[in-house]
Amino acid sequence: MAKMAEKGSIVCVTGAGGYVASWLIKLLLSEGYNVHGTVRNPGDDKNAHLRNLENAAEKLKIFKADLLDFNSILAAVKGCHGVFHVASPVPPSSVPNPEVELVEPALKGTLNVLKACSEAKVGRVVIVSSAAAIGMNPNWPKDQVIDETCWSDREYCRTNNNWYCFSKTVAEAEAWQYAKKSGLDIVTVCPSLVLGPMLQHTANASSLVLIKLLKEGYEEMENNLRKIVDVRDVAEAIKLVYEKPEAEGRYICTAHMIKTQDLVQILREIYPNYNYPKSFKEGKKLSELSSEKLQRLGWKYRPLKETLVDSVENYKQAGLLHS
Ligand SMILES: NC(=O)c1ccc[n+]([C@@H]2O[C@H](COP(=O)([O-])OP(=O)(O)OC[C@H]3O[C@@H](n4cnc5c(N)ncnc54)[C@H](OP(=O)(O)O)[C@@H]3O)[C@@H](O)[C@H]2O)c1
Repeated sequence: MAKMAEKGSIVCVTGAGGYVASWLIKLLLSEGYNVHGTVRNPGDDKNAHLRNLENAAEKLKIFKADLLDFNSILAAVKGCHGVFHVASPVPPSSVPNPEVELVEPALKGTLNVLKACSEAKVGRVVIVSSAAAIGMNPNWPKDQVIDETCWSDREYCRTNNNWYCFSKTVAEAEAWQYAKKSGLDIVTVCPSLVLGPMLQHTANASSLVLIKLLKEGYEEMENNLRKIVDVRDVAEAIKLVYEKPEAEGRYICTAHMIKTQDLVQILREIYPNYNYPKSFKEGKKLSELSSEKLQRLGWKYRPLKETLVDSVENYKQAGLLHS
């Protein structure tokens, strides 16, 4: 494993143009890795930012690949020591045909990536799963902190029409089944809500959560417990579990737990002039989530204020918020 994580070795990142993947690629390039990045449409302007990353000209090779096309994935992972499977649909709102738009690319896509990795004899695969695959479980005691032993309940996700949670849960569960059967070395990282500045030009679903909180002026909002992590710290976590030979299993990746009303209060103190929610009602009681396992591996995270300020400044610069 130590050899595999050597700087200069070749790794693949799926869904390269996405929010999390772009920060991961920036980090990997800065540390000397050679990166194969997969995108569906290399010519699309939404992927243009990748070319501007430092070291991209020499060390980033873009592959055209769709998760549902096994051969396109195989071509990208061939010759790689490690693979970071980040791609998965994250829609900002519900979609008309969730089985096709969400579940199939998440599940079949993950299995295609893993099979390609077996064939290409990849050393380790890090899969970006989600807290969505962990915490949607009505049977978990509300007063008990959620750890990696908790799995979202598929039926509960389905009956609540939470197809994103369903897609991430089945994809991660099947990935573990595959790893058990094949012996492929996989590790999963399960981030909570990811915020922080964007490298890409179009706002992704989790950034829209904060953007809407700043400009939508909701009449009333549930005062739920939010679990937040910075995108740059997520990238560090993904790299860490790849590089640490002793990393194993699932890793919850979350930094801050805060009620929405308190979050708005912090934002309002720094930026008083945005169109914040007008009132709050008490939300459901939600369990806390722990990143203790990841922290024991050496992961650290930045303060929440830094994430919020860097996000807002980035949205302003991108023209998504007025000054
Ligand atoms: N952001 C969060 O709060 C959060 C929290 C927990 C977990 N995650 C996980 O983190 C990963 C990245 O999410 P993100 O927030 O960075 O979202 P994002 O910016 O929307 O990125 C998603 C990526 O998946 C790609 N993709 C979707 N379907 C595909 C397919 N059929 N074939 C190839 N690529 C496909 C997209 O490519 P196109 O650009 O071509 O559509 C895009 O690059 C996902 O696995 C997500 O579940 C995110």
